[in-house]
Amino acid sequence: AVAAAVVPAAGRGERLGPGAPKALRELGGVPLLVHAVRALARSRAVGLVVVAAPADGVAEVVALLDSHGLAGKDIRVVAGGATRQESVRLGLAAIPEEVGIVLVHDAARPLVPVEVVDAVAAAVRAGAQAVVPAVPLADTVKRVDPNPGRPEPVIDTPERATLRAVQTPQGFDRAALVEVHAKALAEEAAGGAAAPPVTDDAGLVERYGGTVVVVPGHEEAFKVTRPLDLVLAEAVLARRRA
Ligand code: CTP
Ligand code: MG
Repeated sequence: AVAAAVVPAAGRGERLGPGAPKALRELGGVPLLVHAVRALARSRAVGLVVVAAPADGVAEVVALLDSHGLAGKDIRVVAGGATRQESVRLGLAAIPEEVGIVLVHDAARPLVPVEVVDAVAAAVRAGAQAVVPAVPLADTVKRVDPNPGRPEPVIDTPERATLRAVQTPQGFDRAALVEVHAKALAEEAAGGAAAPPVTDDAGLVERYGGTVVVVPGHEEAFKVTRPLDLVLAEAVLARRRA
């Protein structure tokens, strides 16, 4: 069973600073989105890639992917939404019924090694409902009482060895992922009690009682978020090309 991948790419990239939408910013002269789609297309586990592009940039993204010669794989582009969650939901809606496994991969993680893509897909194929790649943390993490502009009281310090920094692609049984996205949408529409924001797809599975497992991630699957991340990404790319 070949998987489909949804690539949310509709964000503005505000933390990266002024410029084009983040997915279209360049790394080694090639847009982040093209790197990310290539990384997925390299996996034999992936047969279809659906990109959720900035709503006003669909035609531009189609042209961009064409011009970078990603032939041989089925690549589709849909308009993304106002939030990452909405972009993923819109991407999921473009996947044919018969596809049983879905990966969700941030356009902002251009350098994910194909081994990570393969491992996530394999774990779903082996029966997991939801799979996330993750790495141990280098920093100690503290929970605080957020108090912008003033020293923040520390509440506690989770034991670092039990924490993981979670990456993408995250992999899912397609029906399970579609269901939790629909539930989240219905709750929002009903104006339900303000649940804490969920920042990844596996988090939605957890919210509704599903099971999520972790497989090893990779340090090169980091997310390009701030300007320094782009410096690191350029260095990683240069090392690969050396
Ligand atoms: N994303 C999306 N649709 C949105 C917001 C985010 O498809 N409305 C995508 C981004 O394009 C990115 C991924 O979700 O590939 C992870 O989000 P993040 O790193 O936060 O990217 P941005 O939202 O673009 O960045 P920022 O939060 O700094 O504005
Ligand atoms: Mg964001």
